[in-house]
Amino acid sequence: MANVKTPVVTYTGINQQIEHPDLDATLLECSINNQIPHMHECGGNGLCTTCRIRVLDGLHNLSPRTLKEQEVASIRKWDPSIRLACQCYPKGDVSIQRLVWTSAEVNKLQLETVPEGSAEERAIAILFCDIRGFTKMASENSSFDIAHILNRFYTVLGDPILINNGVIYQYAGDEIIGLFGVSGGLRNKNCQDAVRAALGMQYAIERLNRIELVDFNVTIKLGIGINFGKAYIGHLGHPKHKQFAVVGDPVNTASRIQSFNKTAQTNILISESIYKGLPEGTLETGQTFSPQMDGHEHQTKLYELKGFKEMDIQLELQRSLDYILRNEEAFASKFYNRVFEKAPEARALFKNNMASQGRLLTHMLGGIVYSMSRPEHLTLGLKMLGESHARYGVNKTHYPVVLSSLLETIEEELGDYSSGQLLKAWEQALTIITTEMKKYA
Ligand code: HEM
Ligand code: FES
Repeated sequence: MANVKTPVVTYTGINQQIEHPDLDATLLECSINNQIPHMHECGGNGLCTTCRIRVLDGLHNLSPRTLKEQEVASIRKWDPSIRLACQCYPKGDVSIQRLVWTSAEVNKLQLETVPEGSAEERAIAILFCDIRGFTKMASENSSFDIAHILNRFYTVLGDPILINNGVIYQYAGDEIIGLFGVSGGLRNKNCQDAVRAALGMQYAIERLNRIELVDFNVTIKLGIGINFGKAYIGHLGHPKHKQFAVVGDPVNTASRIQSFNKTAQTNILISESIYKGLPEGTLETGQTFSPQMDGHEHQTKLYELKGFKEMDIQLELQRSLDYILRNEEAFASKFYNRVFEKAPEARALFKNNMASQGRLLTHMLGGIVYSMSRPEHLTLGLKMLGESHARYGVNKTHYPVVLSSLLETIEEELGDYSSGQLLKAWEQALTIITTEMKKYA
């Protein structure tokens, strides 16, 4: 019998060639087993499409699409070269390019479910955020500085939208607009995501004022308005230049709610439809207002949003992440020292140097926060992570060691900023995650 050649998978971009002897392993497993970063939010179950790749060469050497993949590909009108790495098995040499890299890109995938031709009505939460104090700052600084600062604003204000499953719809001067629930989902979840994003933006700007903007002699304030309702979503515009657009009364109302912050002298206002979208008693609110919005005959009830009544784990995790990771390498070295002190044999499991171990930890903590906001994929994703850890040689006793070492290092790094509430949030999240991963050890 002729020798069968072992398939080789070539990863373009990093230009790495990997032998793939196990014909029962998917392309995604090939990446993971070789520690090549490859998004797989649903844990290889053909649901999230984040593991998608473009096949540059050797398409005929991949197994045909599974039923799950066929369904996904037909909704998105993929050409044959786009494949789900978790659904295909290399039988010969292939050359591939991974297509999704960041959480921002993951969120954008939601737009693929929006029809190409016409607009479709969908119930979404709409968040308008206005950066106040920006005009004064712009008049006092060079345009170069302003472009730099504006980019910084867009980043720190965009992150809470993205981490809470939102899509950044537009930046317009000193305004940023986020949409939640573009690809469907429950009203409760979409409203909660928008509320979390608004509070996350508020914390982010407070941090920016305290740390980065001290030399600019300004205090930036936000005006945020959130509304929920049915809007038209689609690709609109000139036939040769269509753009994703969202239109309708709820969008205009969200913008007016945002503006009403000035009159009301508030920071965050939410409409009654957002307020009622969450279970009663969830939100801490301040004053209420009943203005008559332009174009409406009725009054619109608005609530000043202060926060969640009870600790919200996800918000606590999100707001502490930047503080924890202020100094990636220092955090990593403190953490690993603790782990190796408690479990000296664990040192042998880690192959990389400390700098890349630091990045791994950042990736790990970011991943924890990110995955907690996507409960629909959490268990599936952790199954795969648990399995990969079993292959690294991680056993059941390592998990409590990592959990306590992380908590102790987080407490140390947070310093004055640390609170019982924050540590409780991390403990709860880490317990959920390690309990799930441990099942596969
Ligand atoms: C809190 C739970 C944990 C999370 C979220 C987590 C997350 C991760 C992630 C995302 C990777 C990158 C590779 C991959 O995706 O498979 C990784 C690698 C790794 N993790 Fe974990 N991990 C956790 C707990 C642990 C524990 C308890 C150990 C054992 C002490 C451990 C040891 C390792 C090792 C050895 C690697 C490979 C890195 C290398 O070879 O240098 N992890 N982890
Ligand atoms: S679709 Fe492949 S990992 Fe989710």
